[in-house]
Amino acid sequence: MWKAHLIGATFLALFLFARGKKMREMRGNKRKVEGLQELCECLPSGLKGLEIGSFAGESAQIFIESGRFEKLYCVDPWNDGKSKKPDVEVRFDVVAEQHPEIVKCKGYLQDHVHDIPPLDFIYIDAQHKLVQTYQFVFQSLLLAKEPCWLAGHDYDNRQYDGLIEAIDTIFGGHMDNMVFFEDTSYMIKVDRHRGKIETSKP
Ligand SMILES: C[S@@+](CC[C@H](N)C(=O)[O-])C[C@H]1O[C@@H](n2cnc3c(N)ncnc32)[C@H](O)[C@@H]1O
Repeated sequence: MWKAHLIGATFLALFLFARGKKMREMRGNKRKVEGLQELCECLPSGLKGLEIGSFAGESAQIFIESGRFEKLYCVDPWNDGKSKKPDVEVRFDVVAEQHPEIVKCKGYLQDHVHDIPPLDFIYIDAQHKLVQTYQFVFQSLLLAKEPCWLAGHDYDNRQYDGLIEAIDTIFGGHMDNMVFFEDTSYMIKVDRHRGKIETSKP
């Protein structure tokens, strides 16, 4: 009899663990949601924004619900159906349907440059490696208005050395103007003057 109870308890624990993991998938925990909400509070309203890497739309929903965004262009390949989690794109579509400010841009940034207007805000949350981070920052800054708020996720030295190296190198002398949030997001206000990057605190 005790064996049956033990097996039952093990299944229940596994079920609860799996459910908790799914709920925490990207930003399920309160700290991560609040960090991004705090970032939004630094922004003015009426923004045209870009998110590179939207996954199931959790961060996109937080951006839109902040009331700061007129439009948010969400770029993600959603893995052409090859994802191990096929429901991710469907979940994004549900969020996008509820928020008409979201414009879904399936694919890569270079596929959508002609659909995206000059941007006030950029949020990078895709591949977190060195070369890709450089690429995302410079590609997206070409679409930026002056000034533009450039932000991203996972400035986290336990996991993403490449991302940190890229951001530290690009904004080398400007890190005093970089603001960090509880969810490991970073943000800086960028002005490009004749090809040179100038920055200020958001
Ligand atoms: C960490 S998830 C994004 C999480 C989302 N921002 C959130 O907080 O809810 C990373 C996403 O980046 C996407 N991605 C990977 N490479 C990309 C690329 N080159 N351009 C745009 N998105 C990319 C992946 O498909 C994945 O959905």
